[in-house]
Amino acid sequence: MKTEQPQIIRLEDYREPAYLVENVELVFDLESESTRVVCAATYYANNTDNAPLVLDGEDLKLLHISLDGRELGENDYSCDNKSLTIPDLPERFELVIETEIDPKGNTQLSGLYQSNGTYCTQCEAQGFRRITYFQDRPDVMATYNVTIIADKASCPVLLSNGNLLEHNDVEDDQHIAVWHDPFPKPSYLFALVAGDLAQVSDTFVTCTGRTVDLHIFIEHGNEDRVDWAMESLKAAMKWDEDRFGLEYDLDLYNIVAVSDFNMGAMENKSLNVFNTKYVLAKSDTATDADYAGIEGVIAHEYFHNWTGNRVTCRDWFQLSLKEGLTVFRDQEFSSDMRSRPCERISNVKVLRAAQFPEDAGPLAHPVRPEQYMAIDNFYTATVYNKGSEVIRMMHTLLGEDNFRKGMDLYFERHDGQAVTCDDFAAAMMDASDIDLTQFKLWYSQAGTPEVTAHWSYDHEAQRFDLTLAQHLAPTPGQNDKQPMHMPISVGLLDLEGMEILSDVLSVSKARETFSFENIESEPVISLNRDFSAPIKLKAAYSRVELAFLMANDSDDFARWEAAQTYGTDLLLDMVKAYQKGQPFKKDEDFIQALRQTLLNDQLDLDFIALCLQLPTEGYLAEQMETIDVVAIHQAREALRRYIAEDLQKDFLRIFRDLRSDKPYSPNAASCGQRALKNTCLSYLAEGDDPACLALITAQYHNANNMTDRMAALSILSNKEADARLEALEDFYTRFKDDALVVDKWLSVQAMSSLPGTLATVQNLMSHEAFSIRNPNKVRSLIGVFAHANPLHYHNEDGSGYAFHTDRILELDKINPQIAARMVAPLGKWRRFDKKRQDLMKAELQRIIATDGLSGDTFEMASKSLG
Ligand code: ARG
Ligand code: ZN
Repeated sequence: MKTEQPQIIRLEDYREPAYLVENVELVFDLESESTRVVCAATYYANNTDNAPLVLDGEDLKLLHISLDGRELGENDYSCDNKSLTIPDLPERFELVIETEIDPKGNTQLSGLYQSNGTYCTQCEAQGFRRITYFQDRPDVMATYNVTIIADKASCPVLLSNGNLLEHNDVEDDQHIAVWHDPFPKPSYLFALVAGDLAQVSDTFVTCTGRTVDLHIFIEHGNEDRVDWAMESLKAAMKWDEDRFGLEYDLDLYNIVAVSDFNMGAMENKSLNVFNTKYVLAKSDTATDADYAGIEGVIAHEYFHNWTGNRVTCRDWFQLSLKEGLTVFRDQEFSSDMRSRPCERISNVKVLRAAQFPEDAGPLAHPVRPEQYMAIDNFYTATVYNKGSEVIRMMHTLLGEDNFRKGMDLYFERHDGQAVTCDDFAAAMMDASDIDLTQFKLWYSQAGTPEVTAHWSYDHEAQRFDLTLAQHLAPTPGQNDKQPMHMPISVGLLDLEGMEILSDVLSVSKARETFSFENIESEPVISLNRDFSAPIKLKAAYSRVELAFLMANDSDDFARWEAAQTYGTDLLLDMVKAYQKGQPFKKDEDFIQALRQTLLNDQLDLDFIALCLQLPTEGYLAEQMETIDVVAIHQAREALRRYIAEDLQKDFLRIFRDLRSDKPYSPNAASCGQRALKNTCLSYLAEGDDPACLALITAQYHNANNMTDRMAALSILSNKEADARLEALEDFYTRFKDDALVVDKWLSVQAMSSLPGTLATVQNLMSHEAFSIRNPNKVRSLIGVFAHANPLHYHNEDGSGYAFHTDRILELDKINPQIAARMVAPLGKWRRFDKKRQDLMKAELQRIIATDGLSGDTFEMASKSLG
């Protein structure tokens, strides 16, 4: 089968649907390999063109069609593996279509499939067309009635969206459930689940006193792992009432956790389907990061009920309308639940690790893309995380009160509609009287703005001048860029470290000078506080000033940022030294600045831990013209050793002080303790001192929670010592029946910097613990190796690239969405030396030349090649 070049879909070609749908009646007769689906829908013309009705459909077996009760013959319609077209239609009609599908054979995990025997659906973005023929686009909204018929013994639980109307036994050991969702919704929010699942229930009383039943469905045996998810759900429901006045709108909210899932989770109306990773947690199997992830994703999907479901997207180019806004909302929620500065720092780390490189490479696209081949390739860090930054900037420019008015107006205007990013911005503008015309360039211009800051102080005039110049480099398809409108939060500190003033500058010109009057002595400026704009800042700070900001800035984000900037500066110097064969120089001042942070009892422990973590190898790579993974690794290891040497006594004392026998609690304070304790432990490990190794091994064995055990295992996984193999073996023996913990075991090995890691990864592919059909396993082993192990992935012999490419091609036949998501690391070829460039390009060419390649993977590989 020769690869068919996928079609390009363009925003400018958007047309309203030819027909609209009032109500959809679905009947599912569930059989593992031959499920029958009857879809009866009332259509009416949306214009007077008498256009044919074109329904999307993929991998469907068409059994019958009838129009207003008359069975259609082959001459009445045309059909291929993409669509079904019916001409000559009345203005209003009832269409009944019967199809057959194969849930068991559905390895793409899009549409109706089975995960460990449980039937479940994933319809966003275009999975509904794999269930029945339909106008599978978000601007076709209808109410749904869903009847499920299934075997009673193997599928005692039958779920769909909305309310349960009926549940009865029928002959032959079957039973039947009828669901009705009163809220009109697009097909991507349809969901069905059927299986033998355990259930944990609770209730939530809304602000108007309505009781909502909450149920979480999991595989049997996991009942003791859902408390945290349930608590998070209730907290999210309460928070959305308090912060945005948004109340839940049905009496039932169901969450189902499945092991095989392409993404994190899905916000189907009142029937969220989740990756188990974002539901299941207990202290001996989940880390603090897992707990935080669950809290955030549970909230994210819940918040979609208003931002996504009640008001949805007109078309998929508007994806960020719901995703950027909902990420902003979940970040705000997490900030209120735990430490706001630490939450901000971790959001910025994700943005820099995933989005900035995307914006700087061949896959750069605007927050509102203008074209795509496969929409599933556009669930990106740009649409989600940069999209959230865009909302955050509006929030900063408008202020909380105006922002809230804008949200209220948005719901007042658009409840029940499918709308655009422009509609959202219009509501914000109209509610606040703030002009966002130029600001909206953030939706249409790709790339990360570079802002250069210069400043000077005039003693005589007691004036401080700050000049900001912005530049946005060309991105694919966009050569000329206009200046952006952005809020830049600044502060001035006097030499005692006291804040003289703070302000948010509204920057909109290519080059602009801001003057601050009555400044009595030369201040130190703090720039882009709280990361008020998602930019790359170039400011000529001296190292003395950076140490000063680390010690004194009243904005915690800026304090952390000063430590990162200082560390980056040093490390890039060390990289140069390594490349020239010169010895490294130890910078005592940096280490002393870190020590002050470490010993500062005014700071939260989780914040201190973040400040002590050096910029990642990936971040350092992004700062280099030509990436040198070996030099980066060597420099970073050396700096870690220097810090460890000088602060060993402090680390040891703090490590001991923070050890605790108290039972595990996932609250922010205890997370902070563990974060700092384990950061100290990882520095203590640098010395290769046998006493420290004993400390780590002891923590591995005695830990009463997964955070501590995993921290010790991660350290050991980089040690050439028997203790490493012993711990890895022990870990697998302890947890081999626990899929999510086995994922950690795979990742920790895939991340190791020890020689032979590629061979280990290759061997793990045939280990009983691995399955290429399970996306979590693929991400944990292959994804982590390709994304998070630059040293081995970019081995100069090309073995990492070849291994990775073989896996992409293997996966493409099974699950194109997952295969396509793995291509991105190869797309960074331009950033490497000639030898690696050639190797990487050759692999991309090998992908494109493969017969029968999916459109998803074709798009990613061809764009990556450029
Ligand atoms: N809407 C989901 C979320 O962010 C993501 C689902 C995307 N699925 C996909 N196959 N692209 O909450
Ligand atoms: Zn989402």
